[in-house]
Amino acid sequence: MNPLPTNNASSTTESDWVPSGAVLDRFAREVSKYPADQKQSAVMACLAIVQQQLGFVSPSSEKFVADYLGMPPIAVHEVTTFYNMYNQQPLGVYKFNVCTNLPCQLRSGQTALEHLCSRLGVEEGGTTADGLFTVQKSECLGACADAPVMLINDRQMLSFMNDARLDELVDTLRAAKV
Ligand code: FES
Repeated sequence: MNPLPTNNASSTTESDWVPSGAVLDRFAREVSKYPADQKQSAVMACLAIVQQQLGFVSPSSEKFVADYLGMPPIAVHEVTTFYNMYNQQPLGVYKFNVCTNLPCQLRSGQTALEHLCSRLGVEEGGTTADGLFTVQKSECLGACADAPVMLINDRQMLSFMNDARLDELVDTLRAAKV
């Protein structure tokens, strides 16, 4: 298995967010892709950059992005809450999103979600006590024929995740962390 993307969130707590110079450079690069009077178009990219640095999109980082792009804070919050790739609080090192939309439901998507929750001892949406795993359900991931499918930290898709493969995934990631 390729190295999986990790999430910085578990080591981060909310405070007044101050972006680094490197983050500001990345914001500027995103804004430069759009006409000067349409810099709000960079909002999703800026929020993604925040999340890569902070692990989640905090209220103070939303406020910063809003001020930076000249948008009402509520408009930025609407983006954060509409797309489930944005984390609104710190999550585990590995965020598992298991698709439970209808086509996947018909091919064990819900079973996979429940197996993962049971195996990790969490409710859907919960994070393990060691901060390693968060389990969430997701909408269609565009790979219905590969069900059960899941996405790890919004970047890596895994297909055909039956119970045995889910167990293997958890064991592998736990072992790597130890
Ligand atoms: S319904 Fe699950 S990937 Fe499409």
